[in-house]
Amino acid sequence: MKSVPEFRARKGQAPISMVSAYTHWEARFLAESPVDCVLVGDSLATVLDGDATTFSATPEIVARHTAAVARGLGEPAQRKLIVADFPFLAARRGLAAAIDTAALLLRSGAHAVKIEGVDGHADVIAHLVQSGVPVMGHLGLTPQSVHAMGGYKVQGRDAAAAAELKRQARAVEQAGVFGLVLECVPAGLAAEITAELKVPVIGIGAGAGCDGQVLVMADLLGLGGGAHRPRFVREFAPAGEAVRAGLAAFHAATAERSFPTAKESY
Ligand code: KIV
Repeated sequence: MKSVPEFRARKGQAPISMVSAYTHWEARFLAESPVDCVLVGDSLATVLDGDATTFSATPEIVARHTAAVARGLGEPAQRKLIVADFPFLAARRGLAAAIDTAALLLRSGAHAVKIEGVDGHADVIAHLVQSGVPVMGHLGLTPQSVHAMGGYKVQGRDAAAAAELKRQARAVEQAGVFGLVLECVPAGLAAEITAELKVPVIGIGAGAGCDGQVLVMADLLGLGGGAHRPRFVREFAPAGEAVRAGLAAFHAATAERSFPTAKESY
């Protein structure tokens, strides 16, 4: 999938797979894979840097990783759809600042941006969309609001919270998003929102009723490393085991002087 129109057209068709990745080497694997599209998420702050929150990701940092991912995905015309995150508070500095952030991310290789939340910045989303910048929404658990939410918790559990989430979903669609990420939402509620919206809904911890799924590449490969693995993460390949074995083998070969051989020397 190479474009926003292709993404939109998948509503009600085949599910969309999206992977959150930040580096050139990850992007090279993704380029060879059937995965539909790539998100350069601000989760890079937690996954790459070990921060407790995503707050340290700035537009410049996300832009740098977007450029690395774009290079890894190959020539511009061949690239899968790249969505880059608007990081912490970047949608709250007014229209001109949002335009600057969008320009930075799109000049770095993104085709679209993703913005958490909607209340108080629906005008920013609409302004970007009207300026030709495709925007993906993100509702449910929005990590940039972790303190307001009292932690990384499932959202929309009771009737009032579910109704509120549906209201936000309608508002963000009204603002013009081409897709929506729903994070940590009960499966039934996510399926209802997916059925109501005209744009594709991509779930993470939101059940199988969405139009697609997104996971962080390090998580789906078992490289996440953190002490707490969320319930929604499935390890699709045990790459962590391969890494541990590789490091042990390098250490052993160095210790016994079997590496490097003559062929590996000059
Ligand atoms: O930052 C990120 O990687 C994300 C996904 C987990 C949806 O927002």
